[in-house]
Amino acid sequence: MPTTLNVNGKSVTVQAADDTPLLWVLRDELGMTGTKFGCGMAQCGACTVHVDGQPTRSCVTPVSAVAANKITTIEGLGGNHPVQQAWVKADVPQCGYCQSGQIMSAVALLNGNKHPSDADIDAAMSGNICRCGTYQRIRAAIKDAATMPAAPAQA
Ligand code: FES
Ligand code: FES
Repeated sequence: MPTTLNVNGKSVTVQAADDTPLLWVLRDELGMTGTKFGCGMAQCGACTVHVDGQPTRSCVTPVSAVAANKITTIEGLGGNHPVQQAWVKADVPQCGYCQSGQIMSAVALLNGNKHPSDADIDAAMSGNICRCGTYQRIRAAIKDAATMPAAPAQA
């Protein structure tokens, strides 16, 4: 059954069954491979996207549940978002696998809290696991991004 989604400001029609995880649709049907599969059980955060601005684990989100919502993926940040600039500046990634999910969680945090404390950052980022242990650089990059001019509103 076709489902129409709003992804990064564009309306797209997909053919997936209603219970197909959003992650599969993004990667396999729409070719947006920036969002990663880690655990498939909402335990690691690698698959984080925004649904109406809220960080959401796309691996456990049925596509039918978000047909009426605005979905933003890492591709929707455009590559020059302040958080992405801060990530590059701080040379955050190691293997990189977790990083799109980390960035999406960081963007959601900063959209709601322009000057997060260490505790705010820990709370917002606690569901995003990094097996390479880049947590200190992630925290520094979030603080740096908080000093930059805000990004234009996302789709
Ligand atoms: S792949 Fe979705 S939380 Fe791990
Ligand atoms: S950079 Fe390797 S898992 Fe985070």
